[in-house]
Amino acid sequence: LSGGSLSGKHVLVTSGPTHEPIDPVRYIANRSSGAQGTALAAALRDLGARVSFITGPADVPPPSGVTVTRVQTAREMAEAVAQALPADAAVFAAAVADWRVANANGQKMKKDGKGTLPTLEFAENPDILATVSQMAEGRPPLVVGFAAETETVVEHATAKRARKGCDWIVANDVSPASGVMGGAENAVTIIDDAGAESWPRMGKDEVARRLAARIAAALGEG
Ligand code: C5P
Repeated sequence: LSGGSLSGKHVLVTSGPTHEPIDPVRYIANRSSGAQGTALAAALRDLGARVSFITGPADVPPPSGVTVTRVQTAREMAEAVAQALPADAAVFAAAVADWRVANANGQKMKKDGKGTLPTLEFAENPDILATVSQMAEGRPPLVVGFAAETETVVEHATAKRARKGCDWIVANDVSPASGVMGGAENAVTIIDDAGAESWPRMGKDEVARRLAARIAAALGEG
């Protein structure tokens, strides 16, 4: 489709978890179905954007009609994002693991029969959102981060927006009681320069459509 309000615009979306190997058969990861990022990529596509969709191993398949790059680790995701730039907008919906295993094993680790326990050492992963938000040159005009919080959502997300340097934070309450994690619905608050805007609880597809429209409006003003 062409002629939508995002036609001629290139939008980058990260989605899903990253998997950080412990050995060839084990990994650590954050919980993420990839549902919200996937819905968002589809909604941006529907408004006519050219979408670069960079996804970790998600539960849901990527949408059609977008350019898909599949990655496993945070470092691969960072590299794929760098390759996909420049963009008119970049939306970081992925649940990136903050740490990777520094002493990952090349071979499957085996029990030694004496009860010896492995020790994992960690190294910090690149913060993709912060890196792109703080690019001196070629920063996308609109950078959007997500914040999954379990308490004092607006306060934490406002602090996160300032720390990362992004334009908007889409904050959602992922406390177990909210049922958002892995579910079909989401309740989000958008934090931008003007303050916090809370949307009612709605389907992830509807959140995606409204976010895509808000992105189109912001790029149209620019
Ligand atoms: O700091 P935290 O992980 O809570 O921030 C969440 C936001 O930052 C999300 O938009 C996520 O995609 C992004 N992020 C990232 N790279 C990381 C960690 C988080 O892009 N290493």
